[in-house]
Amino acid sequence: MSNPTKPVKWVVENPNEKGVFWPSEELKRKAWVTDEKIYEKAAGDPIAFWEERAAEGLEWYKRWDEPYRWEPPYIKWFIGGKLNACYNAVDRHVKAGKGDKKAIIWVPEPPNEEARVLTYDDLYREVNRFANVLKSLGVKRGDRVGIYLPLIPEVQIALLACARIGAPHSVVFSAFSSDSLHIRLEDAEAKVLITSDGYYRRGKVVDLKASADEGIKNTKVEKVVIVKRAGNGVKMVDGRDYWWHELIEKAETFCEPEEMDAEEPLFYLYTSGTTGKPKGVIHTAGGYLTQAYWTTRWVFDIHDDDIFWCTSDIGWITGHSYACYGPLLNCATMLVYEGAPDYPAPDRWWDIIEKYGVTILYTAPTAIRMFVKLGDEWPKKHDLSSLRLLGTVGEPIDKEAWMWYFNVIGGGRCPITDTWWQTETGGTLIMSLPGIGPFIPSIAGRSFPGTRHEVVNEEGKILQEGNSGYLVQLPPFAPGMFRGLYKADEKYRETYWNRYQNRFYFTSDGARKMPYNGIRATGRVDDVMKVAGHRLSTAELEDALNRHEAVTESAIVAKPHEIKGETPVAYVILKEGFQPSDELTKALVKHVDKTMGPIARPERIIFANELPKTRSGKIMRRILKALVMNEPIGNTMTLLNPESVEELKQRVGYKGPD
Ligand code: PRX
Repeated sequence: MSNPTKPVKWVVENPNEKGVFWPSEELKRKAWVTDEKIYEKAAGDPIAFWEERAAEGLEWYKRWDEPYRWEPPYIKWFIGGKLNACYNAVDRHVKAGKGDKKAIIWVPEPPNEEARVLTYDDLYREVNRFANVLKSLGVKRGDRVGIYLPLIPEVQIALLACARIGAPHSVVFSAFSSDSLHIRLEDAEAKVLITSDGYYRRGKVVDLKASADEGIKNTKVEKVVIVKRAGNGVKMVDGRDYWWHELIEKAETFCEPEEMDAEEPLFYLYTSGTTGKPKGVIHTAGGYLTQAYWTTRWVFDIHDDDIFWCTSDIGWITGHSYACYGPLLNCATMLVYEGAPDYPAPDRWWDIIEKYGVTILYTAPTAIRMFVKLGDEWPKKHDLSSLRLLGTVGEPIDKEAWMWYFNVIGGGRCPITDTWWQTETGGTLIMSLPGIGPFIPSIAGRSFPGTRHEVVNEEGKILQEGNSGYLVQLPPFAPGMFRGLYKADEKYRETYWNRYQNRFYFTSDGARKMPYNGIRATGRVDDVMKVAGHRLSTAELEDALNRHEAVTESAIVAKPHEIKGETPVAYVILKEGFQPSDELTKALVKHVDKTMGPIARPERIIFANELPKTRSGKIMRRILKALVMNEPIGNTMTLLNPESVEELKQRVGYKGPD
């Protein structure tokens, strides 16, 4: 027995190698995977390795006929296999007698409101009923269902109910604007939308229904199901809008799960690319679930007594894989928190961890940097000794934030698994496994067993330790990889496969090969930004600005930001008849809020007469970035309009390099 006043130390530091942490004996005793040979073994026959994983981790109605097929650039796994995601996440645990285990501990934002606990039995009941509701609304296997919900338990219920009847869900982040919702629903051709009247954010009610009403205009959405969360008296449209609680009351209590083909879509999730339009990333059941199950189990070393908290919203892939499918497939207990991290006070998260005894915390570097700024006194008010494992995701983590997370939150006792992955990869792929290590600030780690990533140069040559290049995945591609982009096949080939002629999957990330087979992911090499961990396309933002009546042209550059990692700075050229003013700046910011949502809000808007362009008319973004960062501008004489740079220096307040 461990001494309750002295929490277990899960890591040790090698005294000869400062800043390199290894799992302690205690951690190794507990961990699922501790033997490094797992990497070698899996690499020997990755397909057999994943077959074993799929068979052991999931229950199949029918085993696959063929484990893996690569018809460049199309990936298939477990062909001919049949299974159901919801059955695997809920039914089988209930059948195994674990129905009274807590599945979800839901913590509402208002501090005086009681938490809601759903056991696996509860989840089973609710999911069955809601699956029948969907059917009664005419949803059939293959139909897309839009989900525009805040972080309330109905979100997991809705996802699982869709999966149960074989209707792929397409979740849209609830803080996205009505325009963003519209674009996604239209592309996915969703028939039904599930939303709520409102939700709480920093003590205020956000009217989600109003955005939903606006967003579904001129789409194929015929029916809307509304969860009553905020009680903000929304208007219901007769024959179109239905209250969740009313429908569910009348619903039958059992719904037979559909026997889904392993390669049938489980969901579509839209993400930002390099063009103006978001891309619908397709994930299929068999491969995605296999990877979600095993990464949750091994990367977070999840055990029966853990309380796992992934802070991501369900609107992102992290929420899909680690705040829904992964933990539930493992019959784990997860905590879900509805609201803002600093409401009603900056110690809300730490209060939650102490109160509910959270053992594993998985969050983004941007949140950590925000807490660093708020000061150590907030976490120090709380007993965080229940924590045994920390995770990060979404963007590179700097050494300072890593060490703070490690020392102040983890008490210097807990490993940090820095997990690299993407919406496209479905599950995390590069990290250090807790029982193996090492844990080194700013190095994600190595490829998950059965997968292979390398850092390559422009020509596709694999680079050795100490070199920087592009991050790629090598075949056989991981089972959880996406299967394509919805209605955008050309884009799929072009973005991910053409660059290396189908030899590698191109991640669009830069990386550096590090010691211990480690990989440091250094950020995007395309026009995609990571703002507070959220993926944002500069082209999409430019498109939004260009749609404003006053704007004729715009260019976005990413500026490093202390907390958010990056923020957009906008250069804007106005149409004739419009003058720069504070009012116009405000109007443009408001316009971005409305068309994309507040996460895309530019930090600064710089009005310009002209943008520097090459002779072929391409905007020189490199110069625009150098201007806001006070970096050397370089030679401008080859530009079409070198005088534009002089003008911009004034407008930006360029001081030049120190
Ligand atoms: O640039 C990489 C960064 O996030 C991108 C993927 O974003 P998204 O599809 O929104 O998925 C985020 C959550 C999985 C990647 O191309 N990224 C993600 N994790 C890391 C990271 N960069 C550095 N380190 C990470 N651990």
